[in-house]
Formats: sequence, structure tokens, C-alpha cells
Amino acid sequence: MSYVLITGASSGIGKAFAEEYASRGNNLILVARSGTKLDALATELGGTHNIDVRTFIQDLSLPDSAEKVFDFCNRENLAVGTLVNNAGFGLDGAFDSLPLETHEKMVVLHNLTLVKLTWLFLPEMKRRNQGDIINLSSVVAFQGIPYNAVYAATKAFVLTFSESIREELQHSGIRVFALCPGLTETEIFEKTGINPHRTLMPVGPPEPVVRSAIESLNKNKSYSVPGFINKILIHGGRLLPRTVMLKLGMVLSRREKSMIKHSE
Ligand SMILES: NC(=O)c1ccc[n+]([C@@H]2O[C@H](COP(=O)([O-])OP(=O)(O)OC[C@H]3O[C@@H](n4cnc5c(N)ncnc54)[C@H](OP(=O)(O)O)[C@@H]3O)[C@@H](O)[C@H]2O)c1
Repeated sequence: MSYVLITGASSGIGKAFAEEYASRGNNLILVARSGTKLDALATELGGTHNIDVRTFIQDLSLPDSAEKVFDFCNRENLAVGTLVNNAGFGLDGAFDSLPLETHEKMVVLHNLTLVKLTWLFLPEMKRRNQGDIINLSSVVAFQGIPYNAVYAATKAFVLTFSESIREELQHSGIRVFALCPGLTETEIFEKTGINPHRTLMPVGPPEPVVRSAIESLNKNKSYSVPGFINKILIHGGRLLPRTVMLKLGMVLSRREKSMIKHSE
């Protein structure tokens, strides 16, 4: 009996992944820091869809957190068939105005933990010649974003890492996919203190993003940018010099001044 492991399942895109996979009859392992939210979701989805839902409370911005998740799964004898590396948080502020500790947590959460979870769960997937790995990148992976420097850089890392190992694993039965959403209506914005509508970019709900991600994965795509306007901006933008895209990013964010908020 295999499970879908979702990090950051307590809200937003991760919660929508949990709901979508549950509706398809998959057993789940939900990981995040908010135990109460995870337990409520587990009870709801387990009851509605008659599936087994486990929860594991863990701060994934700690360097040894991936090993703890892996040990939990081994202890409980839970085989992970799908890994959704989704947990993340947002930033808003000039690079040097934000605490170094925040940057460190972001790099560990978005990159180190994602790499470690992938590395830890991969051997068992390879042994079974089957597995799906979905990594949360972003539209910001395609260019630098002023006042979101570390965030954008971590998402570029996720896209490059995912595409690279996807090629390594092409004959293994394991599919690796990077999801690159545009602005999606989740708690990330209220936690960060950003009004996403201020940016002039389209903002949509998480459910269609998740459905389109699973569709793209099933079509064996390496990554997807959900939403027509997002696709035009990202793919069209690749024809322009990177310096022009950087200036455009600055205009789109309509930033008058640097802010010092972050969403932790
Ligand atoms: N919303 C967007 O516009 C957008 C666009 C592109 C990409 N993304 C990416 O999508 C992913 C999900 O974000 P979201 O928009 O759904 O935000 P969200 O609603 O704030 O959800 C973030 C999830 O990550 C978890 N998380 C945050 N820090 C964590 C930590 N230290 N340890 C464990 N779990 C942690 C949160 O749970 P706890 O607080 O309970 O730990 C929550 O479940 C992120 O990787 C984000 O970068 C979002």
C-alpha cells in the first residue's frame, strides 16, 4: 500500500494537493508544523474518501528534518510512491534588510530539505521502478526578482534540480516534475504582508493549479506554468534580454520602497 507524502499540507497549494490526491483514492502522509490543522484535514479526508491519512509534525527548515520524516515513514512501514515537496514561505524586502536567519531557513526549507527528501525516498522508488516527485518551483524561477532575491533563487534551484534529475531518471519509471505557479490565492500572502493584487499579475485559486500539475505530470512534462497569461509572460519573456525582464519585474511589483516583512 503506497502513500502520497505532501510537505506543507496544512494550507494553500499543499492542502489542495492533499484534497486532490485523496479524491483519487490515495493514502496520504501530511507534513507541516501546524499539528491541529493537519489532524483536522486528516480526519476530514480520511472519513470522506475512506483512505489512510497519517500526519507528522515537523519544522522542515531544520537541517536534519528530512531524515526525521524518512525515519517516521520507515518506523510506520509507509511506502512513499509520490513525494510532493511543497512546503515554503514568502519574503518581501531588500536582501540586506531581512535577517540572515530568515534567508538560511528559506534555503534549507526550499532547497536542502527538498534535495534530502528526494535523495532519501528515491532508492525505494527505484527498487519498485515507480514513483512521482513533484517539486514546487514558481514563475519567479525564470528570472531574478528584486526584493525577493533569495526566494526567486531558491525556486530557480528547484526547477534546475528537478529537470536535471528527471533526465537522469528517464528510464527508471520515476517521473520528476517541477510546478511553476504564478500568484495563487493562499495564506502565503497574508503571512508575508503582500497584497498579490498590487502586482498587476493574475491571481487564481490553488485547486486548478494542482489539477493542471497532475495532468502535466501524467503527460510526462518536465515542468508546467499554469495559466495562459503566466505562460505568455514566462515564455515570451525568454525572448527578451534578462536585464529587460529584471526591470519589468521591478515595474510589475510596483514597489515604492523596500519592506522588511517576511511570512514565517
Ligand atoms: N501562493 C503562490 O502564489 C505561490 C506561487 C508559486 C509558488 N508557490 C509555492 O507553493 C508552495 C506552497 O505555498 P502556498 O502558497 O500554498 O503557501 P501557504 O498557504 O502559506 O502554505 C505553506 C505551507 O508550507 C508549510 N510550511 C511553511 N514553513 C514550514 C516549515 N518551516 N516547516 C514545515 N512546513 C512549513 C506551511 O505549514 P505550517 O505553517 O503549518 O508549517 C503550509 O502548509 C511554496 O513552496 C511556495 O513557494 C506559491
